[in-house]
Amino acid sequence: MWNCDEPLLLCETATSKQRSTTLLSYLSSGKLDRRENHTECFKRMIKTVEWTNEGIRMIDQRLLPTEEKYLMLRSYEEVAEAIKKMVVRGAPAIGVSAAMGLALGASQSVGTSVADLEDDFDHMCKVMGLTRPTAVNLFWAIERMRETFRREKAGTQDAGVIKARLIEEALKIFHEDLQANRALGRFGAELIHDGDTVLTHCNAGALATAGDYGTALGVIRGARDAGKRVAVIADETRPFLQGLRLTAWELAKDNIPVTVITDNMAGHVMKSGKVNAVVVGADRIAANGDAANKIGTYMVAVLARKHEIPFYVAAPISTLDLSLKSGQEIPIEERDWKEVTHIRDYQLAPDGVDVQNPAFDVTPNELITAIITDKGVARAPYEASLSELAGTKADSVKR
Ligand code: MRU
Repeated sequence: MWNCDEPLLLCETATSKQRSTTLLSYLSSGKLDRRENHTECFKRMIKTVEWTNEGIRMIDQRLLPTEEKYLMLRSYEEVAEAIKKMVVRGAPAIGVSAAMGLALGASQSVGTSVADLEDDFDHMCKVMGLTRPTAVNLFWAIERMRETFRREKAGTQDAGVIKARLIEEALKIFHEDLQANRALGRFGAELIHDGDTVLTHCNAGALATAGDYGTALGVIRGARDAGKRVAVIADETRPFLQGLRLTAWELAKDNIPVTVITDNMAGHVMKSGKVNAVVVGADRIAANGDAANKIGTYMVAVLARKHEIPFYVAAPISTLDLSLKSGQEIPIEERDWKEVTHIRDYQLAPDGVDVQNPAFDVTPNELITAIITDKGVARAPYEASLSELAGTKADSVKR
């Protein structure tokens, strides 16, 4: 079994110095004893989004699992469109893609002065910010890129230097996401027992992050890599079918046993005693621990409470939005009705029928057993535990 728990070794974009320092420390700690393990890990890693010399390379998630096709995006507008159309989706993956898109856009700006570059960059940030409203990782990544611009502008009048720093920052966000998910996976693994069956909703795996481990699936991979046997039940996740298409695809690729059920089977399956824990991802977590995630998550949380099954939310610190007091303030994306009436281009509903398509719902904090982050595991009362993990005092949280 492959087991390389240092994502920096797996990245094409890590500098050779970063890689050799990490590799040396791994070799000396005995965690990685053969160079071939590294190559094997790299080949197996699911690469959701990558920075290349030609542009930003993404796997087209709309076509999975029947077609494994990679797109090369050559402008920030193409990246924004890819986020909107769900070529790339999942909160951390959206954040990483947006950061790379902004770095790409800035590098292509014809503005030679810092002021011209700044005008262009502001516009790009606005376009990126209008792609999807719920995942806070998008706005978090845009703000980090803006902050990088502000910081560099204070020290240079050379637009070329700022462009280079923006690329470095986007790559840093990418690497940090890989590392955060490995850390989160290690914390989460402690909550999973050998032989457990875990139910998950949507896809919070490698495909929903920069690649490699994922968040909810990172907990499952963390348990697997800690030597525990884990099986997964994946809700199909209507209407976009992330569970059926993406979670099943990536777990099967990773040889983790997975069984797919339709969303309306979850109650029956829990009642029959087949589920030991539920682990889901999140798109935005408010200061009080209320968590927005894919539509249907709330229903799963209610069922888990009814059947006394622990319900865990796994998300990196970048998914926290401590400026929001509760989940009531989280904007919920309403998507095209055609996602409900059709499966791909095949129409199932009668013409003209009224449809609703909220893409997310909010699970109230009282239904959440714990929130697993890359900094540790938070438990109720979340206002205190989350702000402590995020390194902010609860009483300084913006309202
Ligand atoms: O609409 P999507 O596919 O972007 O929604 C994805 C989810 O709801 C995920 O569970 C969430 O972003 C966490 S991904 C690590």
